[in-house]
Amino acid sequence: MVESLRSVLQLRPIQLNPAERRLRKAANIDDLRTIARRRLPLPLVLAPTGFTRVASPGGELDAARAAARMKIPFTLSTMATRAIEEVAAVCDGPKWFQIYVWRDRGLVKDLLSRAASAGCEAIVITVDTALLGRRQRDVRRDSRAVNLAEYINAQFDQALSWRDLDWFRANWDGPIVLKGIQTVGDAVLAADAAVDAIALSNHGGRQLDGAPAILELVRPVADAVGDRVEIICDGGIRRGSDILKAVALGARACMTGRAFLYGLGAAGQRGAEHALALLSAELRRTMALTGQRCMSDLTPDLIAWRDTLTEPC
Ligand SMILES: Cc1cc2nc3c(=O)[nH]c(=O)nc-3n(C[C@H](O)[C@H](O)[C@H](O)COP(=O)(O)O)c2cc1C
Repeated sequence: MVESLRSVLQLRPIQLNPAERRLRKAANIDDLRTIARRRLPLPLVLAPTGFTRVASPGGELDAARAAARMKIPFTLSTMATRAIEEVAAVCDGPKWFQIYVWRDRGLVKDLLSRAASAGCEAIVITVDTALLGRRQRDVRRDSRAVNLAEYINAQFDQALSWRDLDWFRANWDGPIVLKGIQTVGDAVLAADAAVDAIALSNHGGRQLDGAPAILELVRPVADAVGDRVEIICDGGIRRGSDILKAVALGARACMTGRAFLYGLGAAGQRGAEHALALLSAELRRTMALTGQRCMSDLTPDLIAWRDTLTEPC
């Protein structure tokens, strides 16, 4: 009797290997998914930025190397100053490729095929740039960017519509992110169209005047689309705590443009790494100070954002 009780009550040996410990708790594939989500690195993606060589001579190569060191995705812009293949040669981390949709679909098709050959994992279709916003600083400076804007406005497909997703699916065999969603209604349409992710984005305030602050869109969009599409919050990330806020409100990850560009401008690749390390350290500190252990455990009640936005200072 005592023997059989002992065999029933026998404690399992303590598992010292953390990977084995995690796997022991996974009863099915859904459990593995949950564990994987908790373990994913810094929930951040480097946003596509054109003409990045303006910030440092290495440009996109510096940024891509910095992202790879932090094990976060780097998104190469269609307007990059380095070729897809050059970036692939120096970046062994995850790479995404951003697409502006040219009227000339032959050109877009060629870019998609080069992105696939270079190992890009996802494409990011930017949908907020049917024509280029009026960058008044460029106008005042009478800079070459104004001519570029005219060129772009002539080349980009202003008739882009939801139906074009079929064309992309026929020419790209991987995840699709729609970047530039700015309303709950469009987020729902994107989920209905079964894209993999949406980047809520106002293009860093460079396109539509009076566009919504992206952080304010995250919660209503998350409520409307549920788990049907991943949400990326793009814009205004200057602190690790901004990432925590966006994720708590329902984003899967954030994208950042200026934060890494400032780092690049300050000290090239090393500067971009420094910017990402700052965001990472701030995020960890904010997690600790708010008593949070896993990004996947963050919930909206952590954020008193509505009250603080509406209360007078
Ligand atoms: C200098 C610069 C160039 C950009 N170029 C592109 C681009 O080529 N394609 C694109 O989809 N978005 C572009 N963006 C927008 C970024 O991808 C991103 O949406 C924006 O920077 C996010 O805001 P943040 O700078 O506050 O992080 C650019 C932004 C900046 C600042």
